[in-house]
Amino acid sequence: MDRIRIIGGHRLNGTIPISGAKNAALPLMIASLLTEQTLILDNVPRLADVAQLERILGNHGVDIMVSGKRSGETADHGQTLHISAARIVDTTAPYELVSKMRASFWVLAPLVARMGKARISMPGGCAIGTRPVDLLIMAVERLGAKIDIEGGYVVARAPKGLKGAEIVFPKVTVGGTHTAVMAASLAKGTTVIENAAREPEIADVADCLNKMGARISGAGTRQIIVEGVAGLKGARHAVLPDRIETGTYAMAAAMTGGDVLLQNGRPELLQAALDVLVRAGVTVMPTNQGIRIVRNGAGLAPVDVTTAPFPEFPTDLQAQLMALMTRASGTSHITETIFENRFMHVGELTRLGARIQLDGERATIEGVPQLKGAPVMATDLRASVSLVIAALAAEGETIVNRVYHLDRGFERLEDKLGRCGAAVERLSG
Ligand code: UD1
Repeated sequence: MDRIRIIGGHRLNGTIPISGAKNAALPLMIASLLTEQTLILDNVPRLADVAQLERILGNHGVDIMVSGKRSGETADHGQTLHISAARIVDTTAPYELVSKMRASFWVLAPLVARMGKARISMPGGCAIGTRPVDLLIMAVERLGAKIDIEGGYVVARAPKGLKGAEIVFPKVTVGGTHTAVMAASLAKGTTVIENAAREPEIADVADCLNKMGARISGAGTRQIIVEGVAGLKGARHAVLPDRIETGTYAMAAAMTGGDVLLQNGRPELLQAALDVLVRAGVTVMPTNQGIRIVRNGAGLAPVDVTTAPFPEFPTDLQAQLMALMTRASGTSHITETIFENRFMHVGELTRLGARIQLDGERATIEGVPQLKGAPVMATDLRASVSLVIAALAAEGETIVNRVYHLDRGFERLEDKLGRCGAAVERLSG
């Protein structure tokens, strides 16, 4: 397995292009199952999770063509996928495929909405606490699907199609909201989704579905209304920029000091995180090309942050912020309210010299003047990138093992950081 070697202590200066959002690209690809016509997606990031979903969709009979580079295009542009689900040959998503990536469970909604049946293995994915799918199942059940659990599989049947209904989520769930919106798009009648997730990726997918002929309003707010239509058509849509990648590199720049332009980053997608950086003493400047992050000389102030659904501080930036706060001058507190057990980076950060105490869902981070490089192990996607951030400011060499997790969610990380002056290289094998 590949490893990443980082020599800390270099400031970051330059431009980092932000890729298309993984968390929008995945449900957008899944939305292709709703139509016989071709869905063209631009700005799709080159990530292991995208490749994995291509395999999963391929298993259902979906054809995916990746268009070649056009003149003037550089590797900084995402890929364009032409996705055609003209003929769905299999409505089963097997354990071997679904267990590798949790979001693949979301094929449930389009398959049952269009084909009247779906048989989906219960998911696996990041090892961050129990991640149930009860609310996703509830959503399709509310729309009239009959659900059985058979041998580790969720079997959904709606031979006469789905019917619009009211879906009230007791808890904000991104996957649940995607599921409800996709299923309701092809249901008969109107669906009202209450306590919907407001993450920007929900609105991005709804925009694409509307281009495909769906009638969705209110995406991005707590209440989404979907008027079902009889069929959807092909469309072309560009994936919105990745706010988690943007926030991650913002924290990397804040950690090392320097001056970095996060090209294509959109401040409104991560305002809560940018506000935290400002409170920590970092200069954040929205520009017409993206977001400029500057930290010159001044130290980092400690912060108190609690993760919560959008528009609050995202759980997907919690580990990165913790890495940053290991160098603050004072004591920070970070409370994780979305996922239990999402503190697996703490032990590894401690190996680099961080001082962190855990008490249930609350971490207390006492800033230290210097971290020291060490071999560390990545345990999940966001945890692994937090180790990279810490290593960028640590004295000496850090080897981040099991880079597989990074490749799931960060496109060409070593290249993007390297071009800004970080000493980072991938060691293969
Ligand atoms: C998505 C994101 C992930 C992010 C998370 C929260 C993608 C591909 N992944 O994951 O990066 O960390 O949102 O912002 O977009 N829950 C239930 N029952 C369910 C579903 C969820 O209890 O049926 C709970 C979860 O355990 C968790 C909370 O709801 O505590 C939020 O999870 P959810 O928003 O569904 O996360 P994902 O959609 O899996």
